[in-house]
Amino acid sequence: MNDRLYPLIEKHGTPLFILDHKKIRENYRIFKTCLPRVQCYYAVKANAHPEIIKTLFKEGSSFDVASYNEFMQVYRFIKNYEEGDKDFFVWDKIIFSNTVKDRETLRKIRRYKPLVTFDNMEELKKIKACCDTAGLVLRLKVPDIGSQVEMRSKFGAEPGDAERLIARAFDEGLKVEGLSFHCGSQCTHFDNYSLALTIVAGVFQTARKKGYDLNIVDIGGGFPAPYDGQVPEFEKLAELINTECERLLPTDVEIIAEPGRFIVATAASLITEIIGKARRDGKIFYYINDGVYHTFSGVVYDHWIPNFHAFKHGRTEICAVVGPTCDSFDKITLSAQLPANLKVGDYLYTENIGAYSIASSTKFNGFDGARVVHDRGPNRSV
Ligand SMILES: Cc1ncc(COP(=O)(O)O)c(C=O)c1O
Repeated sequence: MNDRLYPLIEKHGTPLFILDHKKIRENYRIFKTCLPRVQCYYAVKANAHPEIIKTLFKEGSSFDVASYNEFMQVYRFIKNYEEGDKDFFVWDKIIFSNTVKDRETLRKIRRYKPLVTFDNMEELKKIKACCDTAGLVLRLKVPDIGSQVEMRSKFGAEPGDAERLIARAFDEGLKVEGLSFHCGSQCTHFDNYSLALTIVAGVFQTARKKGYDLNIVDIGGGFPAPYDGQVPEFEKLAELINTECERLLPTDVEIIAEPGRFIVATAASLITEIIGKARRDGKIFYYINDGVYHTFSGVVYDHWIPNFHAFKHGRTEICAVVGPTCDSFDKITLSAQLPANLKVGDYLYTENIGAYSIASSTKFNGFDGARVVHDRGPNRSV
């Protein structure tokens, strides 16, 4: 590890966020291979670094965006396509999956005839008034039991309200293209997907029977990243999804998904430097040059439990690792098993920090956060 990383530290300093594009491509290919019927819309929110979008665009990925800025970050890659093809490509390459959008955003994206999600009547009225060119996807509330980040308390229409919402959309002259759900992020309880697909299939069939021509089922994100040996395998989940889709959905339905974490979590690592050391109530506190307001923001927003490794060996004990800001909230962990003999100037290493990390980093206390470097795979330098 040291042979590869020390030259990078020397060249770029710390904190250093190393993004492995080979791993991004590998994760994307695993996703595509295991779910052959599913079109992959990478959820840009997980990590919006432009180089990630570029790598995935080259792989053929589509994208799930949450805001006008994210929309434009993707659109710039397709804007040079031939005029005639562009509508098709916007639709094929981008879904606006934030169920609640402000009017200004809706007005701005109207000209692109986008695919957008919604889950309530007020949103429908707004879409009609500000973006009547859109294709609509109705998001349903589904179980997210045991997921690291729950979704159902803020998003999704009750399945019992679906028929009314679909009918109203068509009455207004809008077109509902399909249904979506999200089983919560880092979903390790795979029954959630079976239950969600059963709910969606029921609504889908009823809608078609009533003459509404729905075509898309969007199975959202939530696919778990292998943070440790406890996480059940993605391949098993994929098998279950394939079987359930075959069993429950008509063969002509287009299935799409919005994976974020699964594509990027394992594709980045972070090197930090110890900038201070103290013993408080008997416990060693290592102060490092990155924290919960910066690359470790996932500890707060994503309920993520970070891992720390030292480059040096020594007798270990339970230590606290805390960030550099003046806020006592800026504690990354109170229970890292680390050598007790580390000193100011030594480095720590954190793996699997690609998702929901730099995406939600701030400039709090004037710290810039980590520098990003790109490992582009064989024969391509960092
Ligand atoms: C609508 C939507 N789609 C996809 C995702 C990506 O989820 P994940 O990173 O769990 O795959 C999210 C995450 O918040 C989301 O809100």
